Amino acid sequence: MFHLKPLTLSGSEVLPLVEGGKGISVSTGATCGAWAQMEAIGTFSAVNADAFTFEEHIFSKIYAGKTRAERYKELIMQAIKGGITQAKIAHEIAQRKGRIHMNVMWEMAGTEEILHGILSRAKEFIHGITCGAGMPYKMAEIATQYGVYYYPIVSSARAFRALYKRTYHKFCTFLGGVVYEDPWRAGGHNGLSNSENSNTPESPYPRVVALRALMREYGLDAVPIIVAGGVWWLSEWTDWIDNQEVGPVAFQFGTRSLLTQESPVAQAWHKLLLSLKKGDVKATTFSPTGFYSSAVNNVFLQELQDRSARQIAYQETSSETFSVPFTIGVRGNIVYIKSSDRELIHTWQTAGYAVPLRTPEGTFVFVTSEQANAIKQDQAACVGCLSACRFSGWCQAQQELVGCADPRSFCIQKTLQAVAHGGNPNTELVFAGDTAYRFAEDPYYANGFIPSIKQLVRRIQTGF
Ligand SMILES: Cc1cc2nc3c(=O)[nH]c(=O)nc-3n(C[C@H](O)[C@H](O)[C@H](O)COP(=O)(O)O)c2cc1C
Ligand code: SF4
Repeated sequence: MFHLKPLTLSGSEVLPLVEGGKGISVSTGATCGAWAQMEAIGTFSAVNADAFTFEEHIFSKIYAGKTRAERYKELIMQAIKGGITQAKIAHEIAQRKGRIHMNVMWEMAGTEEILHGILSRAKEFIHGITCGAGMPYKMAEIATQYGVYYYPIVSSARAFRALYKRTYHKFCTFLGGVVYEDPWRAGGHNGLSNSENSNTPESPYPRVVALRALMREYGLDAVPIIVAGGVWWLSEWTDWIDNQEVGPVAFQFGTRSLLTQESPVAQAWHKLLLSLKKGDVKATTFSPTGFYSSAVNNVFLQELQDRSARQIAYQETSSETFSVPFTIGVRGNIVYIKSSDRELIHTWQTAGYAVPLRTPEGTFVFVTSEQANAIKQDQAACVGCLSACRFSGWCQAQQELVGCADPRSFCIQKTLQAVAHGGNPNTELVFAGDTAYRFAEDPYYANGFIPSIKQLVRRIQTGF
């Protein structure tokens, strides 16, 4: 058996193994409870978690509100109900073993209200909150108010410095740990900054050592760092364990923990994971959150890439470069395009991509009339799930659409709900980390073997 010392996390001695939180409805009360039952840390996603039956969760059936603002209110109420439901399920399964964490995204809509709503009614079932996708400055205060540990998810020492200096220095008692999520390797949204190149992955070691050095400056020597992103066999991480430079460390499994018997995702998703090859996962910037995200490069993602490739610039007035008049819309408005783009438009129109849709950056993308209708319908059905949505232009602060909606993006709420509830993993967004190809290479998964969470945690403890 590989040597793994227990670590104190969220007030209890546990295995230093953490289930990565996965929304929407991918890491649930059932998966979380099973991880906790193994004396590890389970994490259920409280991003619009299910409080309903499978059938009731068909996206279009659960919102009665006529306006986005009304649907947004329904969404918040459902998110609170869903979070409480999943926390109770996790608690029952865990049988008081391990720890139960709840994951939220800071840039989802109404995060503060949802955290208060869930914690005020279910804090006895929740030991920690993990939160990334944004800068969760207020999480420290909210968690402390309920006596629950908090875990910011950061991708650099710089991000943690900003959080600490602004608010965390006042709430150190309940800082349970810091999750270092590798922005080049982790599945889901990731925190690549403008100064980092998405094509040039950096080694996690110096970045984590820099984070630890900073934490030491703040007297946080004993606060564990949870390493997430690219973790598969722990035998590949032996240098990190009992390492003075790194300090106390735990390991988070996001992609690997997707493939278990308790996982709610459809068999087709499991099959897809088992078939992936190196390079089948791609980081893109299509997410309506504006963040980079890492997902399987399937039909869904390819369609977005093709859509963006069918793009030309235009101007409202003519100039030497933009000299060719181009008529758009039913009113026959005229804009001006480059003469070199005429041929491209002709090719796209001939192939059926005849509808130009404006983007906020002075360009058109060309789509089919079916695609144009689907995009408009999705924008109209918006329930306001993000604090700011690039796809629909929704802004939580103003409770309305602001700015120009961007047809190069998509409704993440719709596709993640669909794929989590039996939708086709080829035609919906399927988040995955860089290591997803390892399912096909790791002998543990030979002949399509899918472990229970108990078997997976035992296996991870062997170093493989
Ligand atoms: C399908 C999927 C969904 C995810 N959703 C979330 C999420 O909602 N919130 C979050 O903080 N991280 C999310 N993650 C990231 C994981 O929690 C974890 O940190 C990451 O996957 C670790 O990297 P790995 O995939 O290499 O194991 C998601 C990852 C996957 C694969
Ligand atoms: S359009 Fe944007 S804000 Fe509205 S539900 Fe979809 S992802 Fe959420």
